[in-house]
Amino acid sequence: MIPIKSKNEIDKIRKAGQLVAKTLDYLKTKVKPGITTRELDILSVEFIDKCGAKAAFYGYRGYPAHVCVSINEEIVHGIPSGRVLRDGDIVGLDFGVEHEGYFGDAAITLPVGKIDKQAQQLIDVTKEALCKAIEVAKKGNHLSDISHAVQKYVEDNGFSVVREFVGHGIGSKLHEEPQIPNYGEPGIGVKLEAGMVLAIEPMVNAGGWKAEVLEDGWTAVTKDRKLSAHFEHTVCITEDEAAIMTAL
Ligand code: MF3
Ligand code: CO
Repeated sequence: MIPIKSKNEIDKIRKAGQLVAKTLDYLKTKVKPGITTRELDILSVEFIDKCGAKAAFYGYRGYPAHVCVSINEEIVHGIPSGRVLRDGDIVGLDFGVEHEGYFGDAAITLPVGKIDKQAQQLIDVTKEALCKAIEVAKKGNHLSDISHAVQKYVEDNGFSVVREFVGHGIGSKLHEEPQIPNYGEPGIGVKLEAGMVLAIEPMVNAGGWKAEVLEDGWTAVTKDRKLSAHFEHTVCITEDEAAIMTAL
């Protein structure tokens, strides 16, 4: 069963989501060559503390940090460390907030300094794939229309979609039903209804779709070690266009 949220719950998710957006917007200004990923982690928790909210990922299934920072071939769930961001890297920042018992979750991928053309194209295609997905995240459409929209746009542009990780429902828990793969046939599965809240998160690889998890038990990387990008928004299905909960 996919929970349908009340207006009151949606308001709380939106509040959490806005804090996610603000934190990512703040971290964006700090991403440059020379900063360590741990510094980004500290900045994120200081920022969200000041807002009076809680970073949602810390301690989730034992996750040891507040933000996921995934560099280059890292797809998702990179753990902040002493690693320094370098000119030409691409970096994914994934952040979640819990506020008054409700969650918001979003991710962006950013260039560090000057990046090459293919890396920029990967970022642009991944971001646009999320837009395409949100466009079809409408009452009456099927859940798999979201999956299909991502896969089609990404593959039409010569990249591949990760299969091993999926988007998800979100609300009073970080992960709720349903799972939202980034690939699949359109027109199957449940129909979307107003009040469903979904975290849609395309993960796109420059090379093949296969992933593996490093020995730290978290960091997912591309099997071929080619670049990967990730964007995510928490959205609410309404009577017409989906409402983005993780907008500023
Ligand atoms: N946005 C990711 C997700 O929804 C972040 C989870 S990381 C974890 O799965 F540390 F919380 F697990
Ligand atoms: Co998520």
